[in-house]
Amino acid sequence: MGFLGYSDVIRDGDKAIVYLGYNAMMPLKLSHGTVTQTRRGALRHSDIIGKKYGCRLSTLSGKGYVHLLQPTPELWTLNLPHRTQILYFADISLITLQLELKPGSVVVESGTGSGSVSHAFARTIAPSGHLHTFEFHEQRAQKAREDFEEHGISHLVTVAHRDVLEQGFGIDFTVDAVFLDLPCPWRALSHAKKILKRSGGKICSFSPCIEQVQRTCEELRSLGFSDISTLECLQRNFEHRTVTLPYPNLGKNTTGDGFKQTGPNVDDGCPPQDNVAVGTSMDGGQGERDTDAACRTSTPEAALPLNRQGETDQESDCNGGESRAKRPRLSEGATQDKKGASQSYPTKCAVPWKDMPGHTGFLTFATLYILPSGS
Ligand SMILES: C[S@@+](CC[C@H](N)C(=O)[O-])C[C@H]1O[C@@H](n2cnc3c(N)ncnc32)[C@H](O)[C@@H]1O
Repeated sequence: MGFLGYSDVIRDGDKAIVYLGYNAMMPLKLSHGTVTQTRRGALRHSDIIGKKYGCRLSTLSGKGYVHLLQPTPELWTLNLPHRTQILYFADISLITLQLELKPGSVVVESGTGSGSVSHAFARTIAPSGHLHTFEFHEQRAQKAREDFEEHGISHLVTVAHRDVLEQGFGIDFTVDAVFLDLPCPWRALSHAKKILKRSGGKICSFSPCIEQVQRTCEELRSLGFSDISTLECLQRNFEHRTVTLPYPNLGKNTTGDGFKQTGPNVDDGCPPQDNVAVGTSMDGGQGERDTDAACRTSTPEAALPLNRQGETDQESDCNGGESRAKRPRLSEGATQDKKGASQSYPTKCAVPWKDMPGHTGFLTFATLYILPSGS
């Protein structure tokens, strides 16, 4: 199984991830004699068992195909049955790093929820560490136990059915780190303090609202935690675009007919440069040097933020107020002046989406240090 490491061959009982196409996957528990319908067609499990992970497999009709992927914590996060809201890679990676989790770490988590974080923690602390995860919803706790068993990580994880706010964690040893994803995390902090190593135990609390963060920080401070900081991890998506940029205007050329041009098609004795047009004028290197500051620093159309339809919202530019959105796309290719000389050239750029759903929550981190005697 791939939750802890890679294996070559798909075996009976494995949970493979069936990749159906862009943004479409499904988990599949393999069992001889079973046929599963997918939107690409039917898959006979005995055709899959014995094949290599990563292989492409035709569906029974022969009209479609899928790829069979090795399950990993990352893929499980994208494919698990949601019993609760879950955390995704961006937050999980930050938590793992900031809590300094590594092979051998002993960690406490609450609540277990759908087990998204638990799978990632289990892989990080393997082979000798342990995760104690606490969940007060009995069926969720039981389902999580079954998942960990099925995914070959149950030797690394203990699931406890317990209300940690009312009863604490009830373990009589100290742990390296505590991670809280609870509605009232500040109420669990005094319990967490009792089980953290005094030599530098770390804590992290995830909360969607800043009011929760505030209460958590106040409680952490009053309990003597240090290095309290709150981070928000936002993912920013960019789209790839081909745009046309004007050649930069770098002054008079030696032939005396205007100003010197540089760029990929201009033989100026210099090798072509990347980003050659950044911060240059929009006049395409023709005629007089542009003294309009707004124009000199103008943004190429395609470098404006995109909305989800891939269009810019910019109404006008410095070339006479013409609506950029209505103009033909600049990516159609290089342009020429009346004499046939190149004015601009196509290049690639990355453009951020204008509207990006990003906020999941805030991560508050703190450390508990043993205080030297007398301080
Ligand atoms: C948002 S979910 C956690 C999701 C998890 N981090 C994941 O990524 O899959 C919060 C969980 O905390 C549990 N919970 C809430 N209060 C609790 C308490 N006092 N003790 C233990 N678990 C609690 C809820 O039942 C729920 O399953």
